Amino acid sequence: RTLMNPQLAAVFYLLAACLFIVGLKRLGGPHTARSGNQLSTLGMLIAVIVTLAESGAVSWWALSAGLTVGAGAGAVLARRVAMTGMPQLVAAFNGFGGGASALVATAEFLENSPLSAETGVTVAFSVVIGVATFTGSFIAFGKLAGLVTGRPLLLRGQVAGEIVLGAGLVAAAAWAVAGGGAAALWATVGLAGLLGVSRTLPIGGADMPVIVAFLNSLSGLAAAAAGFVIDSVALIIAGALVGASGLVLTNIMSRAMNRSLGNVLFGTFGSEGGQPAAAGGQPVRRAGIEDTAITLAYARSVILVPGYGLAVAQAQHAVRELADRLRERGVRVRYAIHPVAGRMPGHMNVLLAEADVPYEALLDLDEINPDFSATDVALVVGANDVVNPSARDDPGSPIFGMPILEVDRAAAAIVIKRSLSPGFAGIDNPLFYRDSTLMLFADAKAGLEELAAAVREA
Ligand code: TAP
Repeated sequence: RTLMNPQLAAVFYLLAACLFIVGLKRLGGPHTARSGNQLSTLGMLIAVIVTLAESGAVSWWALSAGLTVGAGAGAVLARRVAMTGMPQLVAAFNGFGGGASALVATAEFLENSPLSAETGVTVAFSVVIGVATFTGSFIAFGKLAGLVTGRPLLLRGQVAGEIVLGAGLVAAAAWAVAGGGAAALWATVGLAGLLGVSRTLPIGGADMPVIVAFLNSLSGLAAAAAGFVIDSVALIIAGALVGASGLVLTNIMSRAMNRSLGNVLFGTFGSEGGQPAAAGGQPVRRAGIEDTAITLAYARSVILVPGYGLAVAQAQHAVRELADRLRERGVRVRYAIHPVAGRMPGHMNVLLAEADVPYEALLDLDEINPDFSATDVALVVGANDVVNPSARDDPGSPIFGMPILEVDRAAAAIVIKRSLSPGFAGIDNPLFYRDSTLMLFADAKAGLEELAAAVREA
């Protein structure tokens, strides 16, 4: 028994679609992003309620119970997950999105087969993309959470194996469409799942931003296909928006790492992957709090370069405090933001916004790079890969070609981190051993707080 008539439902779907589009538009800028998120959430709430009410598949009681459990789980996650755990969470969300679409398509297949050729192809598409996104996303989750090694994993014969797997998958999907029944569908599910795993394992941890964005786009495509299967306009629109925006993000992330998507997806074929770090072999120049504070306090211009370590240490307020102290002394202070600094797109912007750093003080790669050579001190806080000169100078480096923040062109670079340990890419950083570089070994938060206090005294 349906709880809502189709005309009214259509009006609500249109409203939900408008909210998704306006919300997405507002997500494009830091000032409007929060309201964009809320508008899209409202759109999704409307879409969920209307879909369930219109289909009449569940009672209002079941509907409320489902919403309460889902919203409760979401609220707990949103409060509990640390900023640094956000990329894994996004990877998991993509996986669930793909999995949900595959479930919808599977249910349609099992209930209504034999399907028309048209619906059959759409179901097969949704199942293949949805299941591969599900398993691929959980491998990405494992890599980002440190549960699976971040190094590219490529077994001997994997390339040939994947070609066979791909051919088998196409055959199984065709069999399912041609009326092969449940056995054909389960074969498709199994092979798609295997392909998702085997295609994600060889991709190195440092390429995960691109992969997570790409899987996000795939989860959207799977959802849009599921929308066609069950004739849900809202799902088609939401899926298409996720698919398209995920592709735009994939493109931005690939460009930030100077890689093509094809190269990220298949780049490790035939290669051994990155060289392990051989840190600590060479001497470095160490700095202390006092001398660093004096160098900063008497500089004319300082560029702050935040990285993943700043996020881990939750040092965003401390860095703002130091910047304030320096500005009071007339030092020109700016922040250089690398697009893949941290562990998720916009990570540094979000963190610094939390500490009320004005957006105008955040400059991206292209804007700030020409200024390093006219800068007295580049203060690198918990960043490593994004300032690694081998990405520019060493064609043999696994990150060669990734644009970097050129802190080595500043008169002096001071690096705050706890040790000489490598960053995400797992490779050594020649910056640390340069004559113009000073290493300040400290936790980012404690180090910055001590520096701010010492600058005040200087
Ligand atoms: P990383 O290269 O990962 O280096 C971070 C450094 O922070 C580490 O070398 C670590 O050295 C230091 N650190 C950790 N905890 C610290 C603490 N409490 N205090 C001070 N330092 C601390 O960071 P990055 O330069 O921001 O580069 C990001 C990397 O992540 C890139 O390779 C990028 O491709 C990858 N990635 C990015 C994303 C996105 S979308 N942003 C997503 C996934 C992966 P110590 O241990 O010696 O302190």
